[in-house]
Amino acid sequence: MSKPRILVNLFHPNIDNSRGNKFLSEGVLDLPGVTFRNLYQEYPDFKINVKYEQQLLLDHDLIVFQHPFYWYSCPSLLKEWEDRVLEQGFAYPPGVGDKLNGKHWLTVITTGGPEVAYRSGGFNNYTISELLRPFQQTANLCGMKWLPPIVVHSVLPKGIEGFKNISDDEIKKHAKDYREFLKECVMQ
Ligand SMILES: Cc1cc2nc3c(=O)[nH]c(=O)nc-3n(C[C@H](O)[C@H](O)[C@H](O)COP(=O)(O)O)c2cc1C
Repeated sequence: MSKPRILVNLFHPNIDNSRGNKFLSEGVLDLPGVTFRNLYQEYPDFKINVKYEQQLLLDHDLIVFQHPFYWYSCPSLLKEWEDRVLEQGFAYPPGVGDKLNGKHWLTVITTGGPEVAYRSGGFNNYTISELLRPFQQTANLCGMKWLPPIVVHSVLPKGIEGFKNISDDEIKKHAKDYREFLKECVMQ
């Protein structure tokens, strides 16, 4: 990757009530070389400006999809964004819709479940890598390079008892690592 221009697309339906994505966002939104966008703020009515979103993709080399893990997947606006923005002739089929070829896809998620829950025989039975396959294969079909996801586990709302819940300070450590990673990408 040479001097990637980084686009961070945050999908969180209620960032004001967030701990995980709030701290992660604060870690990266002022980084030089990074365009940060809060998609639920842009499109509260889900009416996505497809051409504008596509232009942003064209203008950047590393696309970050940051969101909480909802029902083993993502908040619904990200699905709507994929369905609308990754259009035929733009993002696929291979050899025809080639506008995203060679760009990088980075998924950054927070989960309520702890890391140990995400394994065969564990509470959630499958690994995060297995559950993220639809995103990975979407990247593949678009000719994008899938980067190892960044995952912050055990992020629950304040006040939930009886489950592992990482502290704000621990989330901030993850936010620092996330920032360092994007900073290195910018400098490469
Ligand atoms: C609608 C909904 C679905 C969720 N589904 C999952 C899930 O499938 N797996 C999981 O580990 N946590 C799940 N959670 C918990 C969230 O992932 C967790 O609250 C979030 O990542 C915390 O990040 P935040 O502080 O930025 O909101 C779900 C939460 C909601 C509200």
